[in-house]
Amino acid sequence: MVTLTIDGCQVRVSEGTNLVEAAKNLGIEIPTYCYHPGLTVVGQCRICFVEIEGMPRLVTACSTPAQENMVVLTDSDRVREARAAIMEFLLENHPLDCPVCDQAGECGLQDYSVEHGLDTTHMIDERRTYPGYERRLIGPHVVQNQNRCIHCTRCIRVTTEISETADLTMKSRGNHSFIDTFDGQPLDNPWSACVADVCPVGALTVKDFRFRAREAPSPHPSPEPRALPPPPPVPTPLPPPEEPEARTQEDPVLSCFTHCQKGDFDRVIACCARAHEDPARIEAEEEGALFAIEGIAQMAIGRVDEALQALERATCLLPCSWVAHFHRGQALYETGKVAPALVAFERALRILRRPMDVPLDDLFLGGFPPGQMARVCQARIDLCRRAHSH
Ligand code: SF4
Ligand code: SF4
Ligand code: FES
Repeated sequence: MVTLTIDGCQVRVSEGTNLVEAAKNLGIEIPTYCYHPGLTVVGQCRICFVEIEGMPRLVTACSTPAQENMVVLTDSDRVREARAAIMEFLLENHPLDCPVCDQAGECGLQDYSVEHGLDTTHMIDERRTYPGYERRLIGPHVVQNQNRCIHCTRCIRVTTEISETADLTMKSRGNHSFIDTFDGQPLDNPWSACVADVCPVGALTVKDFRFRAREAPSPHPSPEPRALPPPPPVPTPLPPPEEPEARTQEDPVLSCFTHCQKGDFDRVIACCARAHEDPARIEAEEEGALFAIEGIAQMAIGRVDEALQALERATCLLPCSWVAHFHRGQALYETGKVAPALVAFERALRILRRPMDVPLDDLFLGGFPPGQMARVCQARIDLCRRAHSH
């Protein structure tokens, strides 16, 4: 056991305990992002800076073990200044998404920016964004919004240390680095939803939970509603109310699909464009499905470049949709890009051979059994290989 002093209070902890855990024994919370008690310590976010008497520089509390007679300050002027600088750094590129973010209200970034951040910024440049990675389904259960990521790597460590599947990785360098699935494969393991649990911000959320399962009881209950005056007599009977749960023709995905089935491709494209204008109404996979439908419609009327753009968006949002990969392969082949077309067909085939839980794909199956589509895919792959070898 060692005895140390934190913010003027003595505490006794076992040897090897880090300063974050030691401070918890005194009810002192040191802010952390990359630190998680169940994962290895990497000390990379630097928000947990504390001052130790006799040390010239601030140290990270998560990676510093408590030592005998150590005197630690967690709230000195130097510490507060450093934390504010780190918060400003983390928020430099962070989108102003709180009103539409499912993490709002239980977000480490929100809490610490109020507690430790500044109310101004030196940032004058445009924020960094990751187009196509704003609402991306990276596996059957997890939706990614890379713009909100603070690169703490907790999610990566969960897949290497807890599920031991190493599904996630950091790609690219410096300002462009981002979280991606390893080798483009979906994040699909029995613990995959845990990555959203450990993510301190709204960069990773659980598909089935987001925007559905949160209960937020209002601290200010609304007053009892006053009785309304009786309605005026209705001259003709009203039509029966629509089932609130049922999907109607106004549903963007369903109405686009209906027009697509009727072969009314101009209306499909117009309908998709309208739906994309109001992204708050649709989920990531629905948006992906809309891009896929739009791509199919653009192909059908011969606008292959536009089709390709839409299908590329679709494959970003629906990485495990064979439909999007298959049609993208067709579009690439038609524009003479045989090598990438081959890759797209191979991805579609891989998914068809290992079907995943992507119910929206059923919309497109149109009665074709996956085995038959796998054979069609294989034929396209053979065609591409022959064309590529000539
Ligand atoms: S992650 Fe947190 S700070 Fe960022 S938009 Fe969501 S709620 Fe706001
Ligand atoms: S996605 Fe979340 S957990 Fe993963 S690095 Fe980004 S902020 Fe951290
Ligand atoms: S929590 Fe200590 S460096 Fe991130």
